[in-house]
Amino acid sequence: MTFKRILGVATLLAAAAAFAQAPTSKPAAATSSAAPTGATVTLSPSTPAASATELTDAHALAKPGDAKAGQTKAAACGACHGLDGNSSDAQYPKLAAQQERYIARQLALFKTGERQNPIMMGMAGSVTPQDMRDIGAYFASQKTLPGVADDTVIKAGPNQGMKFYAVGERLYRGGDAARGVPACIACHGPTGAGNPGPAYPTLDGQHASYVSARLTAFRSGLVLGKGEYENKVMAGVAKNLTDEEIQALSTYVEGLHPAHDDVASKPVTSTASAPTATAH
Ligand code: HEC
Ligand code: HEC
Repeated sequence: MTFKRILGVATLLAAAAAFAQAPTSKPAAATSSAAPTGATVTLSPSTPAASATELTDAHALAKPGDAKAGQTKAAACGACHGLDGNSSDAQYPKLAAQQERYIARQLALFKTGERQNPIMMGMAGSVTPQDMRDIGAYFASQKTLPGVADDTVIKAGPNQGMKFYAVGERLYRGGDAARGVPACIACHGPTGAGNPGPAYPTLDGQHASYVSARLTAFRSGLVLGKGEYENKVMAGVAKNLTDEEIQALSTYVEGLHPAHDDVASKPVTSTASAPTATAH
């Protein structure tokens, strides 16, 4: 296996071109050639979202979180998720830079048992709605350490000859209209940063094994939330994905990151080391 880091900047340019509806917008080629490579590109959080249905939860009335208060409250979470939200053990999802309200919603779902996971149902049991927002605000304020994507060439099958992550990149950016797979970029953004408005989760840098477990669960029809809090989007998105596509999308997002976070020259290490968890 070989690995590659994926710069969000290339994706950004393609997305900007795709989304540029204004009559004054320049052709994609001109935009690309004018942009210095490796430029510090900060994305507007208002990246167009497809039919944004706001993700909410039973605790939506809590005040916005306080990151400072959240840091103290998140101490117990660091053992698995990393003190700064960059878990080094892939069985625990990274929470760094995750959307505040997305974190709060998932905690609420674990607390009621609507999202099933024995460890997290236990952890969320005593967390109050305000704690959920504070902890969310703390992790949202942290920076994700990017991972790397699988660069191996696929030897057989429909994607023969393509690099593994490139299969994911193609779907992430363009979807597959013929098979009813929407482009992930529309909701999760060109660099995978998600969308704070409707609280769509960030995906960039997330451990591939966690992402593929989530996509597999969504493909089997997993819908989170009940009644007015239900969100069926991902069950629809994932229903036609093949195993290979799930793996490819997962490794693609693990390697995805904005250009200004490029650390290609630095070794990939997590600063917050997580002690081995025994609770599962
Ligand atoms: C003993 C290990 C452990 C501890 C401690 C722990 N978690 Fe988790 N957490 C997990 C695991 C495992 C998952 C993945 C669950 C799944 O696959 O559904 C998870 C998932 C989550 C998710 C969902 C992430 C996503 O991207 O959807 C959130 C949010 C979360 N944890 C927050 C917390 C918070 C806040 C705390 C502290 C109060 C905490 N966790 C403590 C193990 C832990
Ligand atoms: C129309 C908007 C939309 C599109 C398109 C979309 N997603 Fe999502 N995605 C969501 C929402 C909303 C959630 C949160 C669902 C929830 O918590 O109920 C989510 C959650 C996820 C999660 C779980 C994240 C976590 O931390 O647990 C993954 C992984 C994911 N999406 C991957 C993808 C991929 C890959 C694609 C493209 C094939 C995609 N999504 C397309 C809206 C979208």
